[in-house]
Amino acid sequence: MKTSVVRIHRHGGPEVLQYEEVDLPAPGDGEVQIRQTAIGLNFADTYQREGEAGPHDGGAMPIILGGQGAGIIEAVGQNAGTFMAGDRVAYISPGAYAERRNVAVGRLLHLPAEISDQVAAATLLRGLTAEYLVRRLYKVKPGNTVLVHAAAGGMGLILGQWAKALGARVIGTVGANSKIDIARAHGCDEVIVYTGEDFAARTMELTGGTGVDVIYDGVGKDAFLKSLDCVRPMGMVISYGTASGNVGQFDLQLLHRKSIIVTRPTLRTWIAARADLEAAAAAFFEAVISGKVRADVNRSYSLRDTRRAHEELHSRSTTGAAIIIP
Ligand SMILES: NC(=O)c1ccc[n+]([C@@H]2O[C@H](COP(=O)([O-])OP(=O)(O)OC[C@H]3O[C@@H](n4cnc5c(N)ncnc54)[C@H](OP(=O)(O)O)[C@@H]3O)[C@@H](O)[C@H]2O)c1
Repeated sequence: MKTSVVRIHRHGGPEVLQYEEVDLPAPGDGEVQIRQTAIGLNFADTYQREGEAGPHDGGAMPIILGGQGAGIIEAVGQNAGTFMAGDRVAYISPGAYAERRNVAVGRLLHLPAEISDQVAAATLLRGLTAEYLVRRLYKVKPGNTVLVHAAAGGMGLILGQWAKALGARVIGTVGANSKIDIARAHGCDEVIVYTGEDFAARTMELTGGTGVDVIYDGVGKDAFLKSLDCVRPMGMVISYGTASGNVGQFDLQLLHRKSIIVTRPTLRTWIAARADLEAAAAAFFEAVISGKVRADVNRSYSLRDTRRAHEELHSRSTTGAAIIIP
């Protein structure tokens, strides 16, 4: 069978994304074949396109980009467990920019009736990331004050709402005035436009000179060092993303004065065990179904238009989550 995909033959900017037809074999042992109805778009897809070393390394060329999607199972291989043709499923697994694809059942989840394919494809990866960030890596609780960078972004909208639902006071940073209301509508009690204001000084002011309990930093280079200035003693700075670039080397002694805890996690390790994947997904789906977290899909692109989707992600003009429709 043939299928349409978006893949790269070399690393580079959005121009290296190619819409092509490829052969798709029958699903192998422990795999199913999915007709995808929606594909997720994540900042991490741009790292894979650019050839970033680390967990986003896509292996040998050509590489089909993308990390999450949803759809209907059309064929099952041997040992597909509880997965059957006709099931509605979603997954987090490399190689998502495709009309049809094979996925290992170990990474596959059945979708509850209340979660649409679009919402699952747009938010599963970010939702499961937010789950480990607010419930496991740092357990947000009533009385905490948290700082969420890029609070109107894909991760930011979920983190702000979930931290708020767990009882925290949420301070968010955004890059433009146009994003203030969006951040406020998604959990933020206070919003700082960090392109015009010193966010560390303002955060210290908002916390009466104490600093916040935890900082969720998906921005990296432009925000990390300054974040050390506005976390409370023994607080935690979670450098979970690098939208503005890698943090690079820094002086460990900067943590000494306040006994700051710094961590650089990846979702992969937090859902590597099947039990953890299922528990994280159940918690995220519950948060969405109960209304604690609104998982909106703000933009949609066709598979042929993936270059534009990447350009817009780099432009810093987007808010919330987007999908690609095959
Ligand atoms: N570690 C993990 O487990 C994990 C999992 C998921 C995602 N992530 C990471 O989290 C980060 C956010 O992911 P996302 O998909 O939700 O993206 P996103 O937040 O929708 O987009 C990135 C946001 O970062 C801000 N930003 C600041 N400086 C920027 C710059 N120079 N270029 C572009 N954006 C800049 C922008 O918001 P403002 O204009 O408001 O600043 C932008 O909207 C990414 O680095 C991603 O890889 C990590």
